[in-house]
Amino acid sequence: MSSLLLLASLLACGGSEAPKPDVKPAEPPKAAEPPPAPTPPPAAPAASGPYTPDELASAAYEKAKAAGADATPNPKSGDAAAIAAGKAQWSKCATCHGETGAGDGIAGGALPQKPAQFTWNERWDATTVGVKHWIILNGIQGTSMAPLGLTDDQAWEVLAFIEADFHKK
Ligand code: HEC
Repeated sequence: MSSLLLLASLLACGGSEAPKPDVKPAEPPKAAEPPPAPTPPPAAPAASGPYTPDELASAAYEKAKAAGADATPNPKSGDAAAIAAGKAQWSKCATCHGETGAGDGIAGGALPQKPAQFTWNERWDATTVGVKHWIILNGIQGTSMAPLGLTDDQAWEVLAFIEADFHKK
């Protein structure tokens, strides 16, 4: 009996109700998607793949070639005593070029031109050892690669060391 009454009143109520105008407020704009997690800044420059020298390095390569550096092989290549002597020089280079020649020395990250990675075969192969020798003696103008006062022999020695220790084919 009571359920019948309830049903009747429900029906009555529903029937008498005037259709309400749609006053529903517009949906609030959806919250923007959360921004994607920030991608970490690129680490050290690529250690593999094609090497394209920057303008400053290219200019140094041209100057070295013009000076005839291209023609000279490393007279100390593979010489154990020279490699040891070159290793002793490496502390002068490691602040930029990294302890292991990967271009990640403590000073290197802050430089506008990243130090050469001697573990990067494509970069190593892009110039002759004679050009690199010229660069050690003369620097790359406009970059922090300044001549560090090595003698001609010391520059060959440090290259013999780089070749033996970092540039493993
Ligand atoms: C103050 C930082 C700094 C120090 C110290 C330094 N270099 Fe560099 N070096 C650089 C930078 C930067 C470049 C690359 C410049 C560019 O690519 O324009 C470079 C490039 C070179 C290159 C040319 C490589 C190529 O193939 O283009 C050679 C060779 C080199 N350095 C050898 C040395 C040696 C050997 C020492 C230590 C006696 C040394 N550098 C010390 C910063 C440094």
